[in-house]
Amino acid sequence: MLKVQDQIAAALAHVRASNPSVTEAGPEFGSRLDAHFPALVAELSALYGARDDFLDSLGAVILTASRSWRDRPAELRALDGRREMDPNWHQSEKMVGGVCYVDRYAGTFKALEADIPYFKSLGLTYFHAMPPFLCPVANSDGGYAVSSYRDVNPALGTIDDLRDFAAALRTEGMSLCLDFIFNHTSNEHEWALKAAVGDPSYSEYYWIFPDRTMPDAFERTTREIFPDDHPGSFVQLPDGRWIWSTFYSFQWDLNYSNPAVFRAMAGEMLFLANLGVEIMRMDAVAFTWKRLGTPCESQPEAHTLIRAFNALCRIAAPAMLFKSEAIVHPDEVVSYISTREAPLSYNPLVMALSWEALATRDATLLSQAMHKRQGIPAGCSWVNYVRCHDDIGWTFADEDAAEFGVDGFQHRRFLNAFYVNRHEGSFSRGLPFQDNPKTGDCRIAGTCASLAGIEAGDSGGVGRVALLHSISLAAAGIPLIYLGDEVGQLNDLTYADDPLTAGDSRWAHRPHRPVALYEAAKDGSTVPGQVAARLKRLLVVRRSTPEFAGQEVIGFDSGDRAILAFMRPSRVTWVIVLANFADEPRRMAPERFGAFRPEAQELIKGQIVDLRDGIELPAHGAAWLRVSPR
Ligand code: GLC
Repeated sequence: MLKVQDQIAAALAHVRASNPSVTEAGPEFGSRLDAHFPALVAELSALYGARDDFLDSLGAVILTASRSWRDRPAELRALDGRREMDPNWHQSEKMVGGVCYVDRYAGTFKALEADIPYFKSLGLTYFHAMPPFLCPVANSDGGYAVSSYRDVNPALGTIDDLRDFAAALRTEGMSLCLDFIFNHTSNEHEWALKAAVGDPSYSEYYWIFPDRTMPDAFERTTREIFPDDHPGSFVQLPDGRWIWSTFYSFQWDLNYSNPAVFRAMAGEMLFLANLGVEIMRMDAVAFTWKRLGTPCESQPEAHTLIRAFNALCRIAAPAMLFKSEAIVHPDEVVSYISTREAPLSYNPLVMALSWEALATRDATLLSQAMHKRQGIPAGCSWVNYVRCHDDIGWTFADEDAAEFGVDGFQHRRFLNAFYVNRHEGSFSRGLPFQDNPKTGDCRIAGTCASLAGIEAGDSGGVGRVALLHSISLAAAGIPLIYLGDEVGQLNDLTYADDPLTAGDSRWAHRPHRPVALYEAAKDGSTVPGQVAARLKRLLVVRRSTPEFAGQEVIGFDSGDRAILAFMRPSRVTWVIVLANFADEPRRMAPERFGAFRPEAQELIKGQIVDLRDGIELPAHGAAWLRVSPR
């Protein structure tokens, strides 16, 4: 044991001796370096320790960190200290997130700044601006094909505008979330351009092979992610070589087995941290490490890599936290969540199963997931969402579904048919995304309102939109709202007329700011007005319900398959969250509430109820019952 400590101390001494600027970065940096260097070394040596240049490479990483700290603005350094004192800040009931595309919602960062009062009125404390970086005009994947992490797409403004926007949010108590798209770059990134013309050191930044031998070998076990774009995991370069490309053919996967890639990306990450990013959405985490003979998803080193980046943040930008984007099997989703890795994570399971329950009018699988698959380590939070900028994939565990006699494959087929309105009685107007006839795999695109029945004119549409939000706002974690959904925005089918978006149905659910709906929402009798009123009420109540802080969830048996029920405890009172997925009213008998005092408060309506009468939930109705144990 001591030996390892000695080695670490020696490594640190070596790093300090060979880079005087590390010491010059000052005592605050120095003490964080002392504290987190062992973790960083452990992770990096697991990845690169066998290489002769390991110590030099480690020194270079620390040098990058020390320079980044030197450049870190005073307000962010102050925030670093505050966050370290209050590491669970993200678990407050006051936390609510919003997400939008800067161009689509507002045009530019400057224009978006003018919307901050509106975001405040919704109670947002966390703001995810979809990737605003420089990217190819025609091939942007909505910003996920990055050509430079240090430049903003000129249509949105400048990097200074982004910095100002971050500061303006911070002043109003909102944390900026940006993406760290670290699995790949665009083919127009400087590194990619050099690799494409055969520069040997930049060719090593990517996975490039001279012929099909290795691509064929890898593809025996990898999954096709964007089969509409290209088969397999590789695309051919003009000079005949093959390059790894998990997503679009213009997004090239970085080769993290090369430590130079880690070093370079660490620099980009810390640059973003110093812009004022507080939550870094770790894009496509599952794909970052490749190993022959495996699916090349969620390899152990993919975790090590995130932990290494995380340790570096603890040293040079401790206010910044990671949120993982792992839209995979629930076991894998959870495997990324820890304070050492990503303390925040999307909650794709509860999202997908909420839609599943709407289609089936049966909350069995959702209840099971709530009780069995929501436990995460202390200090971590889920990010709960009804839908995001991406498609909905049915990522529940087949083995969980099988416990109720549900065949996962057939059930996904049903859900896909239902949500694209190819099932009798469907209320939904979704679109297929990456329909793969070879595997039967398909995902769903659509806005919340279009998927929930508002587009179809179904009378339950507004109720369903409110129902899903009542779950994401009451579940443990941070709720994240897709801006525009709070006024019931519908699919934008004009995406199909624009050659830049036509091939990707996700653009249907990324509409421009719904100006007319915001206007209509001022009238409470309109559909947008009803959606807005119901969602705003939920938001107000969420913020003033301390039981919704923290991450504890306790099961509660509703006794009715159509009713999801769970409890959010606090020391004195508990909130029972109820959600009726049936198309008709449902009653819960008084005996269900036998453990509680009869007098309870229904928070959404703001009424006192007598549990001895039982609880009646209207069709698609939700209730948040504050109860006290007897
Ligand atoms: C993530 C993004 C998605 C993008 C993909 C490739 O999954 O959410 O929009 O297409 O990564 O970057």
